[in-house]
Amino acid sequence: MRILLVASAFNSLTQRVFVELRDRGHRPAVHLMVGDDPLREAVREYRPELIVAPMLKTAVPRDVWTAHTCLIVHPGPLGDRGPSALDWAIHEGAERWGVTVLQADELMDAGDVWAHAECELPPVGKSDLYRGEIADAALRAVLLAVRRFASGTYLPRPQRGPGWAVPDHTRPYLDQRLRRIDWAGDPTATVLRKLRAADSQPGVLDELLGAEWYLHGGHPERELRGKPGELLATRAGALCRATVDGAVWIPQLRPRRRPGGPATFKLPATLALGDRLPVLPELPPLPSLFSPSAAQRRSGVPDSPQGKGSWTDIDYHEDGPVGFLRFSFPGGAMSTEQCRRLLAAYRHALARPTSVLVLGGGRDFFSNGIHLNVIEAAADPAAESWANINAIDDLVAELITTTDRLVVAAVGGNAAAGGAMLALAADEVWCREGVVLNPHYRLMGLHGSEYWTYTLPSRVGAAAADRLTRRALPVSAASAQQLGLVDRVIPATPGEFGREVARFAALLAAGPGLQERIAAKKLGRERDEAIKPLDAYREEELALMRRTFFDLDEPYHALRTAFVRKHPVHSTPPHLAGVGEPS
Ligand code: COA
Repeated sequence: MRILLVASAFNSLTQRVFVELRDRGHRPAVHLMVGDDPLREAVREYRPELIVAPMLKTAVPRDVWTAHTCLIVHPGPLGDRGPSALDWAIHEGAERWGVTVLQADELMDAGDVWAHAECELPPVGKSDLYRGEIADAALRAVLLAVRRFASGTYLPRPQRGPGWAVPDHTRPYLDQRLRRIDWAGDPTATVLRKLRAADSQPGVLDELLGAEWYLHGGHPERELRGKPGELLATRAGALCRATVDGAVWIPQLRPRRRPGGPATFKLPATLALGDRLPVLPELPPLPSLFSPSAAQRRSGVPDSPQGKGSWTDIDYHEDGPVGFLRFSFPGGAMSTEQCRRLLAAYRHALARPTSVLVLGGGRDFFSNGIHLNVIEAAADPAAESWANINAIDDLVAELITTTDRLVVAAVGGNAAAGGAMLALAADEVWCREGVVLNPHYRLMGLHGSEYWTYTLPSRVGAAAADRLTRRALPVSAASAQQLGLVDRVIPATPGEFGREVARFAALLAAGPGLQERIAAKKLGRERDEAIKPLDAYREEELALMRRTFFDLDEPYHALRTAFVRKHPVHSTPPHLAGVGEPS
């Protein structure tokens, strides 16, 4: 079916709907309703049989929805209405939520219902949920609605009829007055709900060290205590702040924009504070790495960075012959410092007597490559870009040259650019069903490194590697498996993924022929090295990257600034034009 996806941005959910419709043989095209881009013209040109709006902040014009069936995806259960649906759900501590697919109508979110799906709402940040449970529910509802529409016989259900009505649960925009944290009164559970409901946008506006900041992200601290509101410690760039009955970790801060000043952006909290940061105890970044807790050792289930233990962004745990190195960085971005810490943790894991090492396995983004915000904030962005790409390359090189055990990349959330290539450095890539991969760099004006010129063609062949990097379109986990990019697709909820990975990893470690596979891998690496040394790939990639970074006329710098500072997009990007037409 010819389906036009209309959205305010080609964001994670729009990408997910796009790839899953395409996987099912539909021909989705994409139109961004931004600037003056005329939807009517796109509709006239594309002649869609159906219009679907996975994430739309503005209303579809009346003449479009009266002439075409237009389905709006609302991230709330039946009857829920308003622009801050998911924010309210988290703010109020809902444990279950849903997604409804409605027909566009005069009144926002009041149209006839085509489908709806429910989901759990575990205690994690809003954007993590949006890319996880909410995206899964949205896909169930969208695919059902599309099937119903295709049947030609299904009549969508009005929200009101004789003798019945879906309860109208309209809620206003959740503004900063309601999000505000009362450090002297709010218990930890409330503080965490407020932080999570505002993650990753808009953050919670607060005062800190005499200035106004948006707080981004929130995780519980189990042991540290102090005067409510007091800063207690730092770890891995995050701040620990006391509440009335505990403490929370805040990983990122964004200064409030000055009237008329440039757009501000998030940074690791300690970096954002810079000289304002008082002297605080700096906790070791990898608490459980060197002394796994007894509970962890007993349960065999690793504490995820968002799990039961004190918060950390990198964690190591073992279960018999399998090591699990988990990491979780906000937005999937990996700064020079984060790459170096992860490399140190990886080397620690290599020193352990395991035969399978699992990298990743958490929820949400696996990785999105170098940290564009940290680069943007650097005094010399070109030099910081260079340091960051070298740091991530060092990590990737260590993975590729690990020949004494099998390495599995467990991709529980989306991955893009160098972060997708990082996964390809492992022997096996296991992806959660529902993951969207963007294995390309072109949209940031980069050639890319992370040894992708070695790993990508070896997995998918030169032609597919060229297509993926040139067309710069997202790929579903299922398509990635067909291409050879991914070895195993794991059907699991985001919360179940880690356990499923642990189960498969145990089977892999206990399976017959493991030692032969490890020996073959070593030989394969030696053979590849003889054909073309790994260093040669790196040098070639970095020669192009160096030119891009240090030639300030290269589009990368402007593209990065626009991305980090969220400059508005004025039209549908050229790489999305014509995607609905047969290639
Ligand atoms: N550096 C810094 N921040 C990054 C990032 C990166 N490499 N990749 C993603 N983020 C941040 C985004 O700015 C966004 O921040 P927000 O929470 O303040 O909104 C958040 O992560 C989520 O990203 P978003 O773009 O909203 O998600 P999406 O699902 O719509 O798109 C990507 C995901 C990965 C396609 C998109 O973020 C992207 O293109 N990232 C850049 C990838 C890249 O070029 N990396 C550098 C080369 S290795």
